[in-house]
Amino acid sequence: MNLDLKADRAEFIALLRSTGREGVDDLIEYLDDGRNRFFTAPASVSHHLNKDGGLVRHSLNVCHAALKLREMVIAERPDLEAELNESSVIIASLLHDISKADIYIPTRRKSKHPKNGLTEYIDTYNVNYSNFPMGHGEKSAIMALWSGLDITQEELLAIRWHMTAWDLPFQSNELTRSMNVARDKYPLCSLIQLADGIAASLFEFNTRDNDEEF
Ligand SMILES: [Fe+2]
Ligand SMILES: [Fe+2]
Repeated sequence: MNLDLKADRAEFIALLRSTGREGVDDLIEYLDDGRNRFFTAPASVSHHLNKDGGLVRHSLNVCHAALKLREMVIAERPDLEAELNESSVIIASLLHDISKADIYIPTRRKSKHPKNGLTEYIDTYNVNYSNFPMGHGEKSAIMALWSGLDITQEELLAIRWHMTAWDLPFQSNELTRSMNVARDKYPLCSLIQLADGIAASLFEFNTRDNDEEF
């Protein structure tokens, strides 16, 4: 997947501004303040969109999936239209992974070519959790609050629980129940969980892209 960082940045900002939410400009500044590198960060090191600009592209992919899922759900369940309002879908989907904006450090490392065995240097990233090691969804929710954005409880919960059970310590009955109650109470939580899975697993064909490079 080729990335157009400039176009993706413009689309991300336009979508956020379309919500008319107070604090959007403060949020954009915060995401790009030098310590946070949201618009150039990858989405992962070895999985989906592991390249510069991958994080903003992934966030847009999740937003596109979530908006389409929203339409599908409302067609079947018109009573959910108000709860799944478009602004909340945009805010939660675009911000669910902002916690990754400061953890990837670009680096080069030695690697053996998988086919010819020759040593080569590849551009990759080290992962450093030392800046606010809070945990994935929790950190995104808190960063959204810190930025000064006017954000609702259901948007915060959808961001917090977007990883579904992948981010859940099963020895904690409290956390398991909290996630289930959040999903029952706010349909936005389920929508963002599904959209994140669809984007990462079906829109972002990382493994096949890499195979074609060699
Ligand atoms: Fe995530
Ligand atoms: Fe994600």
